[in-house]
Amino acid sequence: MRWEVLRYPSLPSTQETARELAARGAPEGTVVRADAQTAGRGRLGRRWFSPPEGGLWFSVILRPFAEAGRRPPLPRDRAPQIGLGAAVAVARAVAGVTGCVPGIKWPNDLLLGGRKFCGILAEAAGGAGGAGFVILGIGIDVNVPPSAFPEDLQSAATSLAAETGRPVPRDELFDRVLEELAAVYRRLRAGDHGGVMAEFARFCIVTGRPVRVQSGAAWWEGVAEGVDSAGALVLRLPDGSERRFHGGEASLRWL
Ligand code: BTN
Repeated sequence: MRWEVLRYPSLPSTQETARELAARGAPEGTVVRADAQTAGRGRLGRRWFSPPEGGLWFSVILRPFAEAGRRPPLPRDRAPQIGLGAAVAVARAVAGVTGCVPGIKWPNDLLLGGRKFCGILAEAAGGAGGAGFVILGIGIDVNVPPSAFPEDLQSAATSLAAETGRPVPRDELFDRVLEELAAVYRRLRAGDHGGVMAEFARFCIVTGRPVRVQSGAAWWEGVAEGVDSAGALVLRLPDGSERRFHGGEASLRWL
């Protein structure tokens, strides 16, 4: 994968800029990075706090449904695995650069010390066949001081610097994330989704824990059994039955 990084001091959201570029034909591997976002977006319509210093806010254009060299397209039903694979890539990069091994809270939040320092937003768009694209947005609180977080995030959010006790080299981490992302993406395209999901399971911290899963207006409580080979969360309900959830629509809370 050849990455082409476009860097901006500030954007409303790298997600929107990347989507516009992709719609105008920007190639796979284009990365839109901003030092700050004024309208950063999270999953399920939430906002994403993206202050000017200390974070990594970027969106990657992928074209997994198109032939690439000798590689066949990724089947569309495997698209959700791109977000899960990205979580594995960030976890590997963070472990490599900081020495601290993060946990993944399904579907793709990364945590240290029980608090979130990274969120991932994978959005597919752009029509049928090979024309479609995926915009993979990654937000990492690298050196954001915890006191800078808005009050409602104070107890749930953290940064890598706060957890490791020292500043983390942002550009080194950025390069490492792209390197790991290229490797995971290559594996997914080569059909090794089982291997990527097995690695996801090793970082995943929800297995065996009682959780509440919300999907639309409905919610279910149960014990997380783990993640299947498609990346769906398997929840064991109190009546003993099993229910599967896909990451795009569901959110999970500890009980
Ligand atoms: C989440 O956990 O809810 C996902 C957060 C994704 C945030 C990133 S930051 C870069 C990109 N631009 C956005 O507006 N959102 C994503």
